[in-house]
Amino acid sequence: MTPKETAKVQITDTILRDAHQSLLATRMPTKHMLPVAGKLDSVGYFSLEMWGGATFDSCIRFLREDPWERVRTLRKAIPNTRTQMLLRAQNIVGYRHYADDLVERFVELAADAGIDVFRIFDALNDIRNLQTAMRATKKVGKHAEGCISYTTSPVHTLDFYVEMSMQLEEMGADTLCIKDMAGLLTQHASTQLVTALKKKISIPIHLHCHATTGQSEMSYLKGIEAGATIIDTALSPLSLGTSQPATESLVAALAGGPYDTGLDLDLLIEIAEHFKFVRKELAEHESGLAGVDTRILSAQVPGGMLSNLASQLRKQNAMDRYDEVLQEVVRVRADMGYPPLVTPSSQVVGTQAVINVLQGERYKVLTEHTKNYLLGRYGKAPGEVKKELVDRVVAETGEQPITQRPADLIEPELEKDRKELVEKLGREPKAGDEDVLTFALFPEVGLEFLDIRDGIKQPEPAAPAKKPEKAAAPAPAQAAAPAAVSHSTFKVTVNGTSYDVSVQDLAGGGCGPVTAIAPSAPAATPTPTAPPAADGKTVDAPLTGDVLRLLMNEGDTVKNGDEILILEAMKMETKVVSPFDGRIGRFLVGPGDKVENGDPLVVIE
Ligand code: CO
Repeated sequence: MTPKETAKVQITDTILRDAHQSLLATRMPTKHMLPVAGKLDSVGYFSLEMWGGATFDSCIRFLREDPWERVRTLRKAIPNTRTQMLLRAQNIVGYRHYADDLVERFVELAADAGIDVFRIFDALNDIRNLQTAMRATKKVGKHAEGCISYTTSPVHTLDFYVEMSMQLEEMGADTLCIKDMAGLLTQHASTQLVTALKKKISIPIHLHCHATTGQSEMSYLKGIEAGATIIDTALSPLSLGTSQPATESLVAALAGGPYDTGLDLDLLIEIAEHFKFVRKELAEHESGLAGVDTRILSAQVPGGMLSNLASQLRKQNAMDRYDEVLQEVVRVRADMGYPPLVTPSSQVVGTQAVINVLQGERYKVLTEHTKNYLLGRYGKAPGEVKKELVDRVVAETGEQPITQRPADLIEPELEKDRKELVEKLGREPKAGDEDVLTFALFPEVGLEFLDIRDGIKQPEPAAPAKKPEKAAAPAPAQAAAPAAVSHSTFKVTVNGTSYDVSVQDLAGGGCGPVTAIAPSAPAATPTPTAPPAADGKTVDAPLTGDVLRLLMNEGDTVKNGDEILILEAMKMETKVVSPFDGRIGRFLVGPGDKVENGDPLVVIE
């Protein structure tokens, strides 16, 4: 646990977490980590990031590995170096806000299993969302690293970040991380930000940059010159592109001067050989985004989000609207007070932008997630939220925006989850509360995983879809590959340039990366599918998706604006409202039915 005392700059290697999350869809199994674990342990890193983020989800959903077991196994193999995880604060490693008791129990169990450093961030930079996770980490005596999620906007001033960092230090943060998930930190901004922080906080500053836009080494050097002492890198075979800059390059670049890391370059090069092999082994999961992606610099849309948007549009048969959607993302983000675009705010903004464009009218339909966001249920937006949108949600739902910490409104859930798990399993969970957390965070996939792990159920060759497919509904674009990934290629025009984009459709993962982007010859515009004609006065599906619930009965009187049914599209619930006054004549669909954009749903008489 003693990094080289002589080092002026220390290194966290992300090879066991962010590197493969960014480049290989988080698919590196523990067996590919173990052969070099001992050597990694002898390097003298500040820490090895190896858990959290999407690794938990990927372990149970795709790799069928117990994520808790991975921590214990790696801890044993790496006894002398700090292990590190990425924690989404109140969202833990999931996608919603959880009760405080779950956050606390998760941190306790993670610490017991062997995590030393907890890097904690919130998508909105709402300091209140970090409180419980920070406190829990301090309580178990572990290293709490408070994060600022870096983005640029009129409200994200130097003062904003300095103020937040001071609050994190007060909350007990042992180090401060500048988390630049999109590669937006320029060399100038890096100098300014670190210089300003050094004047106000005394804890060490840790830089986490992604190489996506080709600027990260410059940002690191300038940050180091301004006083940052820890940087995140990835061993070269899984570096650059949407991952971190290369460890060996930074070690060599800083050697001999005042910022020498003191690490053994030959040892690093030797370990890197192993990860060349790993990258080849996992080639089917390649994101393909190995080069520099500069689009984010103008549209400010992170690379991972571009692929999600493309995937949503493909399902809606609307790839020709890609350009419009990108512009709309920028506008929706402004209307929502400039949230940094990371999980889960990237999904909220992205889906609303898609719906705004497809509906041909901005905010004609608000997703449930947008409503919750506007009601303050994700936390406080960084800037002003468009007032007329909030007013509308208040009028539609009859609920007032909350001003307190979102988790203050969530009842304790650990006890309830324990009972529910025993009920659903029909037995005591083998690994106790670790299993309860797995289930609480991923109710469907988690439960299935536990049955598979315990030999109750056989794993299917492909990972399960979120819902059982209906026999009549052909699965779109299912590749013959045994893995649960389908690849589709289509042409996209961004700011007038045509790209070939190949998208992986990860079952329910919500983190599917673009697998290839290359400029292509001018694209043919895809033919939009014509909505099927329907007789009578019908209400049609605004989006392609699944019917979740009917909210009215046949024969009910309906007024313009009344909610008729709930559609689940793009992993979000959307209420379909009637554009007419009348009476519900006949439902043409029922819960569970799949509908296409434009399909008639109900006849209004
Ligand atoms: Co990252």
